[in-house]
Amino acid sequence: MDQLKKDYPWTSSPLIACGPMRLIALAPLATEVSKAGGIGFVGAGSDVSTLEATLEQVKTIQAKDSLLSQHTSTLPVGVGFLLWAGDKLLHAALPVLEKYRPAAVWFFAPKTNEDLVNWTNEVRRVTEGKTKIWIQIGTVANAVEVTRTCSPDVLVVQGQDAGGHGLHKAAGITTLFPEVDDALTSLSRDEGIAKPALVAAGGILESRSAAAALTLGAAGLVMGTRYLATPEANIAGGYREAVLAASDGGQHTERTKLYDQLRGTTDWPQEYGGRGVLNESYHDAKKGLSFEENKKLHDEALKKGDEGWGPKGRVTTYAGTGVGLAREVKGAAEVTREVREGARRVVREAMARL
Ligand SMILES: Cc1cc2nc3c(=O)[nH]c(=O)nc-3n(C[C@H](O)[C@H](O)[C@H](O)COP(=O)(O)O)c2cc1C
Repeated sequence: MDQLKKDYPWTSSPLIACGPMRLIALAPLATEVSKAGGIGFVGAGSDVSTLEATLEQVKTIQAKDSLLSQHTSTLPVGVGFLLWAGDKLLHAALPVLEKYRPAAVWFFAPKTNEDLVNWTNEVRRVTEGKTKIWIQIGTVANAVEVTRTCSPDVLVVQGQDAGGHGLHKAAGITTLFPEVDDALTSLSRDEGIAKPALVAAGGILESRSAAAALTLGAAGLVMGTRYLATPEANIAGGYREAVLAASDGGQHTERTKLYDQLRGTTDWPQEYGGRGVLNESYHDAKKGLSFEENKKLHDEALKKGDEGWGPKGRVTTYAGTGVGLAREVKGAAEVTREVREGARRVVREAMARL
């Protein structure tokens, strides 16, 4: 049996995960993805004050679901953390992880590799290895370092198209994924270091891009932006509408620090930026409007509710370059099944053409 199926027995292949989008991916979204045979990640981010209540909600949903209730050794969701938040977050998270034993944790954006090693060891210790370690990386060098020092169960290979935060200096998964794959195969051959399962993230929103990730060699795939257009994503109507309205993401999204600065989320390490849909805040900054004035207009727009979003609005719409492929609102379970079945079909059709 394949390792992912062993570790997440309720899932179907190819494994589809919902990225742990902070404040957005909570129990409703994560459990819908898991109920459909994927693995949903709850985005704890840098704050665990509501994590226990969220995982309690997951437990209640699990008990009522015919598929998830059969699986009881771990909680059938993952939890994502932003490691730059430091040891205080780790110490607050550990008792919750020990109590609920989610199937996986997802680590992203540590300040140092030492922090990553510490989080990995501590989570494995308190959950007796039951909670699997997923680490999101964006470079070949980092993939090698993390595999050597943390022996993660899963590496999430994030390419530049990804919505939300990622590396400013980055490649797309078409080039990044095979180079990471080769580097880890060499590491395993030359140093006997176990190769983690590799999943692809960044720009996957539908069947064809999911099939492409599979043919790159991915054991599974992660979607973030696509799940924004689901009723279970915890976002304002104006945000969802802005996602549905946006297209041609290479032109109309950018990875920048501006949105973090406007929102006051400036603790991210220097090398990361957040990809979002371009709006008036962005254009005014480009035209030279002072940050103070821009911030004032942004904060006023926040008070307008749904009208504050959109290309003529000012409120941040984090989303990836694939935003034009998020065309309609559908349930997260339906999205998960559709992309999984569709990817299988596209691969079969491609084989038939050869
Ligand atoms: C709105 C939004 C918020 C995100 N927040 C987080 C986060 O808090 N932690 C994290 O590890 N990744 C986060 N991500 C990145 C996802 O984990 C994933 O890498 C990305 O969504 C994949 O690319 P896609 O958006 O093209 O599907 C976020 C993505 C989006 C779109």
